Amino acid sequence: MASSQGSSPAIAHVYRGTFVHSTPHTALQILEDALLGVDTEGKIAFIGKGEELNKLSQSCGFSPSEVIQLAQHEFFMPGMVDTHIHAPQYSYAGTALDLPLLQWLNTYTFPVESRFKDLEFARSVYTQVVKRTLRNGTTTACYFATIHTDASLLLGKITNDFGQRALVGKVCMDINNAVKHYKETSEESQEETCRWYPLVKPVVTPRFALSCSADLLEQLGAIAKNNNLHIQSHISETIEEVNVVKKLFPDSESYTDVYLKHNLLTDKTVMAHGCHLTDEELALFRETGASLSHCPNSNISLCSGMLNVRNVLNHKVKLGLGTDVAGGYSASMLDAVRRTLDTSKVLTIQEPDYCTLSFEEVFRLATLGGSQALSMDDHTGNFEVGKDFDALRVNVAAPEGPIDLVQVDEPKVCDDRNIVEVYVAGRKVVPFE
Ligand code: GUN
Ligand code: FE
Repeated sequence: MASSQGSSPAIAHVYRGTFVHSTPHTALQILEDALLGVDTEGKIAFIGKGEELNKLSQSCGFSPSEVIQLAQHEFFMPGMVDTHIHAPQYSYAGTALDLPLLQWLNTYTFPVESRFKDLEFARSVYTQVVKRTLRNGTTTACYFATIHTDASLLLGKITNDFGQRALVGKVCMDINNAVKHYKETSEESQEETCRWYPLVKPVVTPRFALSCSADLLEQLGAIAKNNNLHIQSHISETIEEVNVVKKLFPDSESYTDVYLKHNLLTDKTVMAHGCHLTDEELALFRETGASLSHCPNSNISLCSGMLNVRNVLNHKVKLGLGTDVAGGYSASMLDAVRRTLDTSKVLTIQEPDYCTLSFEEVFRLATLGGSQALSMDDHTGNFEVGKDFDALRVNVAAPEGPIDLVQVDEPKVCDDRNIVEVYVAGRKVVPFE
């Protein structure tokens, strides 16, 4: 678009219109008639006011005639961050929600995941889940794959091909008494983890304490530590699970302590659920800098519990939202936003003094909060100069959307159909080429 000024990269695109995002201090900030410039490296080069167009065009080196003007009923928001999603489970999303967690895993999840040894099956499901989540506005996803290294690498390649920012976890599990062929030995799990992690943006993934021997947990903690890697797992999702962990790890003071003892609780750890964590355990999360992924659709669908998000935030523990497909039946982060609000309101119904989450706070959890939970907030999560331009162009009056045009000036209930364009690091990734 313009020649480079000095040593900074040239401006590639400038957008003018409404921008909505969160900052650490303001849950929802609305910038009206703003100008945002994206450079040739996909980073936000400047944010200014529309009235500063002439000044900015001169100082940043772009032509005012090339500015892309949003329509009146359009705005940009940051791309959403799904902090917990099982890519293989997309193949049965929306079904099999009639059993509690541990039986659900044995009956549905493990048999399906074992099929991902077949790379063609994996390719077909992984392509669908990446395309679907991108269309739904998930610009960053933290995936569980399966125990199969090659299929997990394929998931990394597919996210890369479609331009989704992703952490990809090869699942590690050396205990499975229900589907005996769907597990590895501890040695295989370690060797395969070391083969897989240099080739993707990796997240070390012990499935959960019930699927991993103490030896495997310890070795995975060491691999993560020695290579400064992200870690993800599940914690305190159901009461039954917490009780089994107590029996299996009698020397640990709590479920959190099991992970802590094995060096799996770090400032690059994200743990899903945490519905039944105690305040003492939340204090350990705070001390270590580990974060939680709140997955309300899954927690309700599997009757697992309800996370008290307000209490987590009061403990100053980092928290993002997750779809947890297929414990959660929806691959949409907008659904995660709505379920988060619903759960918070159910807690308020039960306890009228409960400090209900506001929609502004939940918007922040779906965007900036998720990037913080994944320790990626230095380069994504909101519209700050220097960060990558990960953004959704939302058209409240999209022709295929759920709102009638005559109601454009009325209160609005948007859904995924209102997301008309998706950008990751400045590159338009939706609509697909
Ligand atoms: N705990 C261990 N594995 C899983 C899983 O695949 N989904 C959920 N929701 N919880 C788990
Ligand atoms: Fe999960």
